[in-house]
Amino acid sequence: MDARDLRRLMKAVGTAQGLRSVRAAWRRRRTDAAGLPRSGAERARVPGTALGAEPGPGGGVVRFARSSLLVRVAAGGAVFCGWDGAGPEPSYALGGPVPEVDERAVLEPDKDGGWRVVSERVLVVVSRHGGVEVRTPGGVLLRRDLPPRWWEPVGPAAGEAVAPRWTQRSEVAADARFFGLGGRAAGPRLRDGSYRLWNTDPGPFGPERDPLYITMPVQLVVADAGTHLAFHDNSWDGRVTLWEGEEGAGSGHDRPGRCELRMDGGPLRSWVIVGTPARVLHGWASLTGGAAVPPAWALGHHHARWGFDSEREVRRVVAGYVERGLPLSALHLDIDHYRGHRVFTVDREAFPDLPGLAADLRERGVRLVSIVDPAVKAEPGLSMYDSGKEAGAFVRDGRGREVRGLVWPGEAVFPDFTDPRVRAWWGELYAERLAQGFAGFWHDMNEPVSFAAFGDPTLPLSARHALEGRGGDHREAHNVYGMAMARAGYEGLRALRPDERPFLFSRSGWAGMQRYGGTWSGDVVTGWPGLRASLALVLGLGLCGVPYSGPDIGGFTGSPSPELYLRWFQLGAYLPLFRTHAAFFAGRREPWEFGAETLEHAGAALRERARLLPYFVTLAHLARRTGAPYVRPVWWRSPEDRALRDCEDAFLLGDSLLVAPVLEQGADRRAVRLPRGRWYDTVTGRAHEGPGQVLLDAPLSRIPVLARAGAVLPVAGVDGQVELEVWAPAAGRTGGGVLIPDAGDGGEPVEVVRFTTRLRGGAVTVEQEGSAEVTYPVRVRGVKDDG
Ligand code: NOJ
Repeated sequence: MDARDLRRLMKAVGTAQGLRSVRAAWRRRRTDAAGLPRSGAERARVPGTALGAEPGPGGGVVRFARSSLLVRVAAGGAVFCGWDGAGPEPSYALGGPVPEVDERAVLEPDKDGGWRVVSERVLVVVSRHGGVEVRTPGGVLLRRDLPPRWWEPVGPAAGEAVAPRWTQRSEVAADARFFGLGGRAAGPRLRDGSYRLWNTDPGPFGPERDPLYITMPVQLVVADAGTHLAFHDNSWDGRVTLWEGEEGAGSGHDRPGRCELRMDGGPLRSWVIVGTPARVLHGWASLTGGAAVPPAWALGHHHARWGFDSEREVRRVVAGYVERGLPLSALHLDIDHYRGHRVFTVDREAFPDLPGLAADLRERGVRLVSIVDPAVKAEPGLSMYDSGKEAGAFVRDGRGREVRGLVWPGEAVFPDFTDPRVRAWWGELYAERLAQGFAGFWHDMNEPVSFAAFGDPTLPLSARHALEGRGGDHREAHNVYGMAMARAGYEGLRALRPDERPFLFSRSGWAGMQRYGGTWSGDVVTGWPGLRASLALVLGLGLCGVPYSGPDIGGFTGSPSPELYLRWFQLGAYLPLFRTHAAFFAGRREPWEFGAETLEHAGAALRERARLLPYFVTLAHLARRTGAPYVRPVWWRSPEDRALRDCEDAFLLGDSLLVAPVLEQGADRRAVRLPRGRWYDTVTGRAHEGPGQVLLDAPLSRIPVLARAGAVLPVAGVDGQVELEVWAPAAGRTGGGVLIPDAGDGGEPVEVVRFTTRLRGGAVTVEQEGSAEVTYPVRVRGVKDDG
């Protein structure tokens, strides 16, 4: 028990729940003492020398004295490497069948007894001792994996089913920057340090806390030589240590960037995708699946609070929005609407007629969203518990007993979402939520959390899981638990309401979770550092393929000053999930609770968000089709611009807008680093030329937002109809944009409308592909004669 555990223990013992959490922690410890293989002496193994190779589709297998390596290039250029017989399947990350191989990739002998796989998109070089280099087709080095090392048990433990730990070190260019690894509060650029791969509820967190709820062995590496994504398809606990490199370090030689991955078990297999950032993310989405597109209403403003504990309170808050003419799309009910915190129940005293409330809100354009926790109160007679027990749905320990934990409703059991039958059972439970009038779902506590006064607040590591029929324990299932729950909810909702796109977002997840929905920041602390962490999370997750997320505006824990609230609100208005939320013990989050001036400016941000809705809908569809997140780092189109690579306080929203939030107290202007090309200040219309840095006004009324010259931005006109806001291209240049009109909350849109802009004789012209004339009203901005 370390000092932190001790503090937690002391704090916890003060309450009744605390005593139970002490008991729960002991119980977990006892379960693992009996159920986990004992660790003992280990012996290191390395691949040894290459003995030969057999060509196969897309590459082949290189045989080493003490291992083998499968190298396979997929048709899109993604490289798969699997050691010790590991193949791409089974995998929780893959979104469909394993991608087809590149039939033209060939395995050839290389110098010094090594081998290489040559293909059109990528070159893979395997050294005689098992190092693997990924190079551009022209031979420029992007990544070098050094020979891996396994640690295998010797002595008495050798006979037990022990998964060997392993370590792999890699090198990247000296100028490279690391991004990704899931949601990291200290990001988006991941500096030197150690990052654990274990989904964790950290409690209220700031930028210094790691890990958080979503960890992923996904690294996005950006360097002059090119961008690549490396994914280690392994859900076990692990640790990534990063060291950025240095050019001309020491004696004038470059020191490469380095990373070390240590995994507690599981297969050693990876995918590497190379190209421009856009190509890499497209390749990643092709591999792991397109992101679920939220219904259009979920791209509006959401308001939540842990503490909306009666119908009266909900009506009062919604009326507050309506009376002030503030747009509101969704209101979220937290655990306080449950009966005694039991999932899929309603406290009928506080909410006597939820369907009636939902219908009334709906008339005002407001949807109800329900929190859904995975833990089920272990209470015979409770239908959820009884039906789950009968279905054999709950996680068991090695001796076949239900694993009991402690969550909001008290003693609880946990569905095993890695079992397809359990997912089907759980998915049907959403029928009750739909009948109550809920339109969207907010998955919480699914790391999964079980309160514990000491030790890891989750299930015992020895807890058994189906793992799609393969069988295994929590060491392997933990990190995919939240994602498997999202799958259960998503598939259940699709079956129950085939004509509606489900709206679901989940606190925990793993590589591929975007197939089922988005996520949010979790319990970010109130304060300026929390505001900065909010942006880091959205950017970092986007680069891991999870495009839809956003923070608790105002922070989860405290009472923000009007200024902090407003700056958070202004940032949130440009992020995919635009949601105010806080704990019951924190201050209020309604925009009118912070004085007249804040209300006025927050109102402006809300109206601007509503105006940008057609753009957000377009970005949501593009994210699904292309893998490009809505919120992109400013280096997205110019990764070679090193100053941009280090810029963490601004972002691109789609291709057209650059958003520069105010992240510092008291600031009324800020420096903004521009990518190359012309950028217009969307308020003053003033043009600025990039690359370079400009100082822009950021009064309390707004944050700087710039539009790319030539951009065509679909926006909502006064009557709600789509119109085009066109920003003049620079002289001699063309521009353009895309509109994907929403087909309602149902299926896939059929139409993609493309526009081209030109500046001719000082006048801007717009063309619509496949149409003699532009069929939308056009408003031109950024030229002198702009009305
Ligand atoms: C933890 C979640 O992160 C938070 O958003 C929620 O309000 C509480 N659980 C209560 O359900």
